[in-house]
Amino acid sequence: MKEINITTTFSVFDSLNELPGNIQKLMERAVEIRKKAYAPYSKFRVGAAILLDNGKIVLGSNQENAAYPSGLCAERVAIFQAGAIYPDVKILQIAISATADKKSVTSPIPPCGACRQAIAEYEFKQEYPIEIYFMGESGAIYKSDSLKNLLPFMFDKNFL
Ligand code: THU
Repeated sequence: MKEINITTTFSVFDSLNELPGNIQKLMERAVEIRKKAYAPYSKFRVGAAILLDNGKIVLGSNQENAAYPSGLCAERVAIFQAGAIYPDVKILQIAISATADKKSVTSPIPPCGACRQAIAEYEFKQEYPIEIYFMGESGAIYKSDSLKNLLPFMFDKNFL
């Protein structure tokens, strides 16, 4: 028997001011679109802003449904939109911000497992790392240089 050890790394920015200017702007777009989330059930609002290699920004917010599993997270709303409209354009960065109506969200909110798997698909497809920045409503921002840091030992098309 032997063990496999997988380590993963994130950068931590203590505040928005510490982010590079272009990422600050991208995060502002995530905050803005977060306000349009349709989240009557969870009251948890998430915004995602994606910067593409052609300079376009694609946005998404979580969209809930009375049949709960029919709703979709902000990250997948945004990345599926990017894939649908700009199928051949590289995704460079994703900024994510989350807040809740009932409490203040001060810790960084990472994408859920299903969103990580969805982002992984596009990172694999484009053979180029996607940078992911995520935060709550305030507080620190975490950065992952690639989806791989968020989903070590991932399932991908090579297994098929
Ligand atoms: N949500 C997101 O939009 N992104 C995530 O990565 C985690 C969860 C949404 C889904 C649902 O509308 C609400 O947050 C509560 O789970």
